[in-house]
Amino acid sequence: MKRVIVTRGEKETEKLGKFWGEQLFPGAVVLLSGELGTGKTVFARGVGLGLGVGTPITSPTFTLLNVHQGRLPFYHFDLYRLAAEEELLDLGAEEYLYGEGVSLVEWADKFPAFFDMPAVTVSLKQEGPFVRRITFSSDDVSYQEIIRALNPGS
Ligand SMILES: Nc1ncnc2c1ncn2[C@@H]1O[C@H](COP(=O)(O)OP(=O)(O)O)[C@@H](O)[C@H]1O
Ligand SMILES: [Mg+2]
Repeated sequence: MKRVIVTRGEKETEKLGKFWGEQLFPGAVVLLSGELGTGKTVFARGVGLGLGVGTPITSPTFTLLNVHQGRLPFYHFDLYRLAAEEELLDLGAEEYLYGEGVSLVEWADKFPAFFDMPAVTVSLKQEGPFVRRITFSSDDVSYQEIIRALNPGS
């Protein structure tokens, strides 16, 4: 199942992320793809807000992973600088992805074979300076329910 939402401005993308943060469940996995500057980190910030994370959500580009605590643990990955899939194992990524928190992965599409677990895929595309086309898709019923509940204006 697939749905497209168009946002006009950072706040709208953040709000969309917040909705996901409110709905996501223990063990949920959110796989983000899209070029630099399309709003992956903005969306992640919204998810953090929705999970009730109190600490600032910034891009883990250099750290690969930031761990936050909200109503659930929030594992925010950014694989932009990751060269090889083995480094994900070194990082202990599986412990997080198959754990009880919510995992969100920027640049997950770099390693599609690694991220074959049930998940929601969020792909962002820039359509103008402030316009982003955001496509949500999942084969898994738990995520499909959330996708169905999205309002275009949320
Ligand atoms: N509709 C929008 N949604 C998200 N970000 C937007 C939007 N319009 C403009 N922007 C800007 O695009 C940039 C997105 O940055 P960021 O989230 O760090 O991208 P990424 O993590 O994908 O590299 C921010 O500067 C943000 O203000
Ligand atoms: Mg980013």
